[in-house]
Amino acid sequence: MEAKIGRILISEDEIQRRVKELAGEIDRDYSGKVPTLISVLKGGIIFLTDLMHELRILHEVDFMSVSSYNSGTQTSGVVRILADLSRNIEDKDVIIVEDIVDSGLTLDYIRHILLARHPRSLRICTMLDKRARRRVEVPIDYVGFEVPDEFVIGYGLDWQEKYRNLPYVAVMAPRE
Ligand code: IMP
Repeated sequence: MEAKIGRILISEDEIQRRVKELAGEIDRDYSGKVPTLISVLKGGIIFLTDLMHELRILHEVDFMSVSSYNSGTQTSGVVRILADLSRNIEDKDVIIVEDIVDSGLTLDYIRHILLARHPRSLRICTMLDKRARRRVEVPIDYVGFEVPDEFVIGYGLDWQEKYRNLPYVAVMAPRE
């Protein structure tokens, strides 16, 4: 199947404004602390770097790569770690930085893996929240935007590894 970019859901301006606001909240909440931002590759990288540019507090970053066993477009919730964090997170204030929370299964799995390593605290920050599709409740502390139950691309999100570079979030439209 081929695809094309459909209607724009969130513009570049709206995204940049919201990233500044979220960074402001995190600055206030973590004043005097040095949180570790963990990005789950690859979708979260654009949001992570934009957030880093806006944060005024000291912080560290680390990465994790996972693959979920999918059946069609549905996440199974069983996750395999392809690349693990480079540092220990014991006693660290950890913030998972995600592109989108859909069913929540992947994030729930990652959250439990990280909690077992005894961070001092663990919060979740996601740019997009596709609430309507949630299958498992995951506590989310910072949300950029809620999106409808449609497949979206851009701002880190891909369709078959492409379109991550779009500075806005759009709906993917099948090509007629
Ligand atoms: P979950 O386990 O169902 O929450 O799946 C989360 C992952 O699925 C995200 O980190 C994305 O990589 C991917 N995903 C979910 N919805 C979309 C979408 O609309 N566009 C692109 N990727 C998506």
